[in-house]
Amino acid sequence: MKLCILGGGGFRTPFVWQALLRDTETPRVDRVALYDADPARQSTMIKILNQLAAEFPSPPTLEAADDLDSALQCSDFVFAAIRVGGVHGRQLDEHIALDLGVLGQETTGPGGIAYALRTLPVMIDIARRIKQVAPDAYLLNFTNPAGIITEALQAELGDRVVGICDTPSELGRRVAGILGHDHDQLQLDYVGLNHLGWMRRILVRGRDVLPELLADDHLLAQLEEATIFGPDWLRALGMIPNEYLYYYDFTREAVAKIIGSGPTRGDFLAETQSAFYREAAAAESPATSWQRAVDRREASYMAEAKGGSQGAPATDHDHHPAADPGQLGYAGVALAVMQAISRDQRSTAILNVRNRGTVAGLAADAVVEVPTMIDANGVHSLVLDRQPGLRELGLMQQVKAVERHVITAVREGSRTEALLAFALHPLVDSVSVADKLLDRYCEHHPQLHDLFEGRR
Ligand code: G6P
Ligand code: MN
Repeated sequence: MKLCILGGGGFRTPFVWQALLRDTETPRVDRVALYDADPARQSTMIKILNQLAAEFPSPPTLEAADDLDSALQCSDFVFAAIRVGGVHGRQLDEHIALDLGVLGQETTGPGGIAYALRTLPVMIDIARRIKQVAPDAYLLNFTNPAGIITEALQAELGDRVVGICDTPSELGRRVAGILGHDHDQLQLDYVGLNHLGWMRRILVRGRDVLPELLADDHLLAQLEEATIFGPDWLRALGMIPNEYLYYYDFTREAVAKIIGSGPTRGDFLAETQSAFYREAAAAESPATSWQRAVDRREASYMAEAKGGSQGAPATDHDHHPAADPGQLGYAGVALAVMQAISRDQRSTAILNVRNRGTVAGLAADAVVEVPTMIDANGVHSLVLDRQPGLRELGLMQQVKAVERHVITAVREGSRTEALLAFALHPLVDSVSVADKLLDRYCEHHPQLHDLFEGRR
């Protein structure tokens, strides 16, 4: 099988590669094509991967593709994790919003809208190339904001595009660890949109163990979400919100904390990542540089997780999802999906897929993040035992409306649609702020300027 990795120069590619190296079952990936818009990052990554492969008897062949079509040709699976505008774009997304007193974050709130507006045209082009060059391939999309991107790409690729996020399964894995269960024993009743979901029940042998977890101070103290949201809020909800719900449930504190701590997460990554690529390009052992960079990043997550206090973000820079060394994060989810499809090994995962009536209050073609069953026939969403409550559904509908305005803004080059997206977002509290956000994002992101040029 051939796997194509778009954005292959990215920091997380070696995690995918290491899992492929260790995989001995059939069919397995025996060809990997790497494609990255930045040739320097691409060649550094190839060196790292070759070095990591040295001790394995039959590693996949590795191709550095210099154009998109040849990267895609003959692919069975395509992983896409691209960052249009780079980390610098992320810094702008964050700072422009924070300067106007609203949330500045990678995927949530106005920063996520700006990110989607400049990423969608690129990802739509990629999807069209996939449809031409590798029509049978599955696109496993990590490109953020994953929900919006996946929804837009359904128009080109139908159910062959699946959106992947690690936060729901990571939450399940951490809960399993705290309760002393094997991850596979749990059935997770989760519903939402990407970065906007709730774990409502955790079933073990048909029994919901979530109430026990919520009632037990000692167990709850081990759960990062209890630190982020406070145990009382989790008990009041009777659910565990995805950690990104912090931005909705504690908006004021989140914005104040990010502004107060100086550098944003993007600022932090801009510095540490450029240091890594610089060091690795010159290093005799680039894989060692990569491992050191992973450790540094891991340490930053840990410091953030420990630094949190009740009701405050778990981080000094920005709230950050929990991380655990040795875990594959979303590379692990993507590989599990790929194996379930290619080996017809029926398994379950929480993924971003077309709704088709799963959530009764959302359109059939809206992309939602829900439990699915995966086999050789593809990814099938499971029936929910109960529909989301009014607050959850209301928030999902409002954010879905925003997402659709974002997609229409890009498809039609419509500034009005973009304004509607910013203005209707629950984390933007005034139409005049939305207007300023849009102006400033267009001023600083050339992609957005071009998209809406002459349409003011
Ligand atoms: C998690 C989320 C991703 C997000 C990432 C940010 O993995 O699921 O969607 O992009 O965190 O991590 P970073 O280290 O870039 O802040
Ligand atoms: Mn995610």
